[in-house]
Formats: sequence, C-alpha cells, structure tokens
Amino acid sequence: MSIYQNIPSEYHVGHIRIAPNIVLAPMVGVTDSIFRRMILSLGGCGLVSSEMTNAASVSPRARSRHNQLEFLPEERPITMQLSGNEPDLVAQAAKTVELLGADILDINCGCPSPKVTGGGHGSALLKDLCKMEALIKAVIAAVQIPVTLKYRAGWDEDSLNYLDTARMAEAAGIKALALHPRTRAQLYTGTADWSRIREVREVVSIPVVGSGDVKDAAEALRRLEVYNASGIMIGRGAMENPWIFMQIAQLRRGEPMFVPQPSDKCDFLVRYIEMLRDELGERLGLNKTKQLIGQFAVDLPYAAKLREHVHRSTTLDDARTLIEDFFAQHSDPALVSAS
Ligand SMILES: Cc1cc2nc3c(=O)[nH]c(=O)nc-3n(C[C@H](O)[C@H](O)[C@H](O)COP(=O)(O)O)c2cc1C
Repeated sequence: MSIYQNIPSEYHVGHIRIAPNIVLAPMVGVTDSIFRRMILSLGGCGLVSSEMTNAASVSPRARSRHNQLEFLPEERPITMQLSGNEPDLVAQAAKTVELLGADILDINCGCPSPKVTGGGHGSALLKDLCKMEALIKAVIAAVQIPVTLKYRAGWDEDSLNYLDTARMAEAAGIKALALHPRTRAQLYTGTADWSRIREVREVVSIPVVGSGDVKDAAEALRRLEVYNASGIMIGRGAMENPWIFMQIAQLRRGEPMFVPQPSDKCDFLVRYIEMLRDELGERLGLNKTKQLIGQFAVDLPYAAKLREHVHRSTTLDDARTLIEDFFAQHSDPALVSAS
C-alpha cells in the first residue's frame, strides 16, 4: 500500500481526461516531437505540449521552417501552444492548429523573454487583462477544442494579478489553467511560490496545474497534496531526469523507485542523438545536442567538462563518442580523476 494512493491522479480539460496528472511543460527549443516521444516512452507522463509558437508563424511556409507544430499520433493527447496579442490573428492560427489535429490549444501569457514581451506577447499580456480577455474570447469562439491558459503570477510583485486573471479566464471559457507562480520580473530567479496555486484553486472551479521547480518525485506528490494542485507540470526537471514521470508513477503504486545510473543517462542521450540524426539531420542534430547537453548533464559531476567537450565536436559521431567516453569514465572514479 502506498502513502500516496489518495492523492488525485487525473484531471479533465473539457472532455479530455489527463491521466496521470503529471505533464510535460512546454519548452521552446526543447519539447519538440523527438523529446516528447523520448519522455512518453519512459512512461508516467499524462500530457505533452508543443513549444510556444508565434501565431504569426503557423502558415504552411512558416511551419516548414520551424516544424514546431508537427507531432505523431502516439503523442496524443497533445496541447499546442500559441503566443500573440492580436485576437483575430491568434484566432486564425488557432483554427489552423485545430485542423492540424491538436487536442488542446494553450495560450501563452507567461513567457518573460524580452523578445516576446517586447511585441506585447507572453507575460506582457498580464499588464492588460482586457486585452488578454479579448484574445481568449476570440480564440475560444474560433475553435471546438478546449482552450487552456498558461501564465505567471503577475508582471512584478507590485502588480500580482494571478487571482483576477484566473477568474477572468474561467468566465471567458478557459478549460484549465497552468500557473508558473513566479512574476515576470523574477524571470527564473528565486523560487516559484506554490501557495499561489492553492489560492487560485480556491477561486475557480476549473483545473489548476502548478509549474515550477519540481525536480523530485516525492516532492511532486507532496505538492499535489499540500497545494491542492490539479496537476503538476515539469520542465527543467524532465531534462535533468527524464525518468521523473516514471518515478512518480512508481511512488504512487508503492513500488521501488527506479534510480537511473550514469549508464542509463548515457543510453538516453545516445538514443536521443540517433533520433536527432534520423529526423533532423546532421547539422540541426548537432546544434540541438550542443544546446541541450548542459541541461541533460546538470546533476552530474564533471558536467561542465562534458559540455565543453561536446561543444567542441564537429560531427554527431564525435559528440556521441565523447558522451560515451565520458560516461564510461564517469562510471569509474579512478579513470575520471586521471583524465
Ligand atoms: C528552456 C525553456 C523554454 C521554455 N519555453 C516555454 C514555452 O515555450 N512555453 C511556456 O509556456 N513556457 C515555457 N517555459 C517555462 C516552462 O514551461 C515552466 O513553466 C518553467 O520552466 C518552470 O517550470 P520548471 O521549473 O519545471 O522548469 C520554458 C522554460 C525553459 C527553461
């Protein structure tokens, strides 16, 4: 018997059941179809999302350049996330996303990047709830699929409006919220204040998923319970430990938790590199490996050395060999200290 068995394990987005209620956070540059399939293959993840896509770039021509809205049937249920601030444009893009087969459409009102907020998108919408409301209503009127909202706690500590945003969104027809309870001003510094998730749960009746700083399976289950979250969204923690979803499922069932060894991490990375090579080709695959290696290796001793080595590689074969050598050494402390 598990001490976690009474913690809720699902929620609904409109008619769609999300089970388990542990989901992959959208991450630009990371959560493409390859990464999503890698995560889903390990088990325990109830929902995946596309990377944030600018509503102005959903035309067939733009899509062929970024591939951000491609997915395979085994990824369902899938959320596709759009950013933008012009209601008609985002509504049109939402129709396209629906035709592409998305199960859920998510509107991004949380991205803190100056490139995004400078155009009035992402978390900039937290400064103008009337505009956000018009955008939400236009999107909901344009599509049949459920529409969700991912947002931050406010622009800064002096303008916290996560409760007003939640109330407005529910009244406008949003079917679920995901709150990253940092402010835009915080970017990724400090900690996410999860008590805000509980507060939002008290003012709306739609599901509220919490996002931010979940790195550990037991901690995820604790947050579901303590903050009464409908679900947990995991981003950076899934790059560091792609098995976290599986571990949460094991804890719930009262089973011993899988503890990945360096060799498991190596196998994961090699499999990832081979999928990148097959599906994106040598050049893009190598770029992506260089871009993500630091996050994948973040919890390992000597991660900086691995990152440095991989950054110097000129082919995917080089990168693969460096990674395999690194992990072979890493499993043998004598060799690591000698290198
Ligand atoms: C590299 C990176 C890219 C991100 N891209 C997106 C995005 O496309 N859309 C979005 O809503 N949030 C995005 N986020 C925010 C995450 O979804 C998540 O809310 C945040 O990282 C906090 O969760 P974590 O601590 O589990 O990573 C991104 C975060 C990171 C680190």
